[in-house]
Amino acid sequence: MVDILTDTRSWKEFSGEAVVLGVFEHNADGILHELNKLLDKAVDHIIRKKEFIGEFGQLKLINTLKKLPCEHVLLIGLGKRDAFTREHVRRASGIAARALRDNGILSFATTLHALPAKKATAREQAQAVAEGSILGAYHFTKYKTLVREKTKDVKSITLLEADKTVEDGAAVGKIIADAQNLVRDLVNEPAMTLTPAKLAEHALELKKLGVKVTVYDKKGIEKLGLNGLLAVNRGSGQEPRFVTLEYAKGRGQPVALVGKGITFDSGGLDIKPANNMIDMKSDMAGAAAVLGTVKAIAELGLAVNVVGVIASTENMPGCNAYKPGDVVTAYNGRTMEIGNTDAEGRVVLSDALAYAEQNFKPRAMVDLATLTGACVVALGYAAAGVMSRDEALVNKLKLAGDAAGERVWELPMLDDYKESVKSDIADVLNIPGGKGYEAGAIAGAWFLQHFVEKTPWAHIDIAGPAWSIERKHYGDKGGTGFGVRLLVEFLKQMR
Ligand code: BES
Ligand code: MN
Ligand code: ZN
Repeated sequence: MVDILTDTRSWKEFSGEAVVLGVFEHNADGILHELNKLLDKAVDHIIRKKEFIGEFGQLKLINTLKKLPCEHVLLIGLGKRDAFTREHVRRASGIAARALRDNGILSFATTLHALPAKKATAREQAQAVAEGSILGAYHFTKYKTLVREKTKDVKSITLLEADKTVEDGAAVGKIIADAQNLVRDLVNEPAMTLTPAKLAEHALELKKLGVKVTVYDKKGIEKLGLNGLLAVNRGSGQEPRFVTLEYAKGRGQPVALVGKGITFDSGGLDIKPANNMIDMKSDMAGAAAVLGTVKAIAELGLAVNVVGVIASTENMPGCNAYKPGDVVTAYNGRTMEIGNTDAEGRVVLSDALAYAEQNFKPRAMVDLATLTGACVVALGYAAAGVMSRDEALVNKLKLAGDAAGERVWELPMLDDYKESVKSDIADVLNIPGGKGYEAGAIAGAWFLQHFVEKTPWAHIDIAGPAWSIERKHYGDKGGTGFGVRLLVEFLKQMR
């Protein structure tokens, strides 16, 4: 894990392997001329050929040849100052951290890339630098046995600013980014090792932080009557797990976070084609984000009551698998007809939502789930879909997402689609019927609505942003850890 340090020296005084210097377009010339003086004209050519103009994300690694106490200066372009936001701070920090790591520089210092004061406080700025740097330094190398030297981990990052608010912000950023990186590890871990039982073991780790963790195995789940979870589990050789995480440091009723924890989604009997199955170890990203969020708020000591609820199983086509046409009675007594075994997420969430509402009486519920391909079609990878009939809750989540750089975009729960999940023989059908081109993500939300009685509730479909096919700013390929920053920010508002 990366250490975050602070130091009162300026970038010109810092001695070490490298210092990252953020440069806006409007003062790129000024900085380069200053460097040119300090380094006896060593950057003449950069100025002459306009090699560095401070465009966002642009990098220039300069060897100081012992003319400064620090061995290298890494210039990172910050772009236009007016357009600069906290998310740009994260991204710039991530790009710089990764570039240095790729150059074998594992300890370095960085300036804070100052925003105009009204856009962010020093605390928020430091938090964003810590988050971006730690996230950018992440890579999943557990299973690499070759190219050892290329997989070295960043050791420490020093923020060149050292007052109390900066230290506090950096500490908060480290807690959140470490939790997000844990989520990435869980999502990247192959399904053969990250089974429901293993996921529950990771949840048990939170006991150390004073979180009350309860794990139900298959027998326990049978006693509870979580028949949706059991139905999906029937085709799998791995036992299911149902986990509750209780963190109580606030007043009043808790906020419930519910996560879809399908450790592998083959589709079941309605099996997925190979191209759609390849990344389906990531179908527990919602559960992992709930786990990571509870970890982060426990470490932060937030004054808020939170319960996390995780429903976990594989979705496999084994000989006892649940079948299209089956009817299952969920925890709240509602019946669901299985139209497609690949719409398993809503089947396990039905139990988890009803259980959370009845047993914890939360003042609000939010579920995170890689629920539908339709949501990826609608919004792509840059935002999660949020669906809710509670406008205030949607607005809170949107604000939190903007602040955290993990955006949610509302898909409206139009009444028109309510009927699309009607069943001929049960209360509800797990696929949209009708014409076959219903709003798939919204139909999912309408299905889930049958299992929430009266609690303000929002459903967040993270099928797009939970997984990445590219290495970009502070993100790597694979699990993104989406949801931790969003939910921590949301819970701050719910204090
Ligand atoms: N886990 C998938 C959704 C998914 C798709 C996640 C792509 C990430 C990327 C989910 O269980 C699923 O298979 N949904 C079906 C629902 C349909 C059968 C109603 C889908 O989206 O096709
Ligand atoms: Mn599925
Ligand atoms: Zn799924």
